[in-house]
Amino acid sequence: YSPTAGIPELRDAVAERYSRYNPELKGKNVIITPSGSTALLEISQAFVDPGDEVLVPSPGFVIYAPHAKLAGGVPVEYKLTEGDFQPDIDYIQSKITSKTKMIVINNPANPTGGVLSEENRNALADIAKDKGIMILSDEVYDSFIYEGKHSSFLPYLDRAIVAGGFSKMMAVTGWRLGFAMANEECMDALIKMQYHVCASPSMPGMYGVLGALPSIDPYIENARKVYKARRDLITKRINEIEGMSLIPPRGAFYAFPSYDMDMPSQELANELVKAGLICTPGSAFGTFGEKHLRFSYAASEEKIDKGMDILADTVRKIRGGRI
Ligand SMILES: Cc1ncc(COP(=O)(O)O)c(C=O)c1O
Repeated sequence: YSPTAGIPELRDAVAERYSRYNPELKGKNVIITPSGSTALLEISQAFVDPGDEVLVPSPGFVIYAPHAKLAGGVPVEYKLTEGDFQPDIDYIQSKITSKTKMIVINNPANPTGGVLSEENRNALADIAKDKGIMILSDEVYDSFIYEGKHSSFLPYLDRAIVAGGFSKMMAVTGWRLGFAMANEECMDALIKMQYHVCASPSMPGMYGVLGALPSIDPYIENARKVYKARRDLITKRINEIEGMSLIPPRGAFYAFPSYDMDMPSQELANELVKAGLICTPGSAFGTFGEKHLRFSYAASEEKIDKGMDILADTVRKIRGGRI
């Protein structure tokens, strides 16, 4: 077995990479996990107790609410603002109760492509401090920001735990390796939890990632350029469709356009699958995801163009009463 928290060389290498957001970050603040998903699960298992309320973004990544429930907690959705998909700070304030234990933030976000503003990051950090609430910041897409900069919660490890992953950073989703960064007290609890979840992460994967990390930046820089061009293409194509609208997503690799047809997103997604285009209905991402579709643009420009032809044609037929 490897050490429960992962091999020290990789913990140190991750700490060094992320010290750009917090110069005090050390290997002892990093746990290597068997995926970003597992990091998120272990965090909720370690810190959420039965009856605790966990504020989760809506629309938001599909595992936050189930993870809260698996820990015996109660997920409470908070709204994102339409278009730029920022956490609605007033709405969050209105949902905080004496039982609120944790606020989950996803930045950059799946499914929306939203990138948290520095102003909102600071506002959320202040709320967490004032009310004694923990922040769980899922930053697995931190490498993919096309405009603006990444406002990490790493400077706030007194009140935040940050989850990360290699899946997106290195395009190695099948390797199943991620990490989390926390203060020493929280790290202690996470390492204990990880022991009971999996004993330790996979040794071959850790050495593979360790070998790749020093040379990853040129790859990421190129990937960012390629994704940005795809982002521009899908935004242009979607906004040319009558009845659909998309503000250019600033991060990750998802487009989450809204539409004005009177049709549930599940039904619309089913029509698109029949026509040959796979997307995810907005309703899969929570109450406030309805009337949207999620498209991944981690596909070639040729495939994006073909998919958008299908989308344009299907929407035209629906609006013309032919479907
Ligand atoms: C927002 C977000 N967080 C976490 C993950 C988990 O990534 P992994 O388990 O591959 O590290 C994903 C994967 O799609 C994601 O979209």
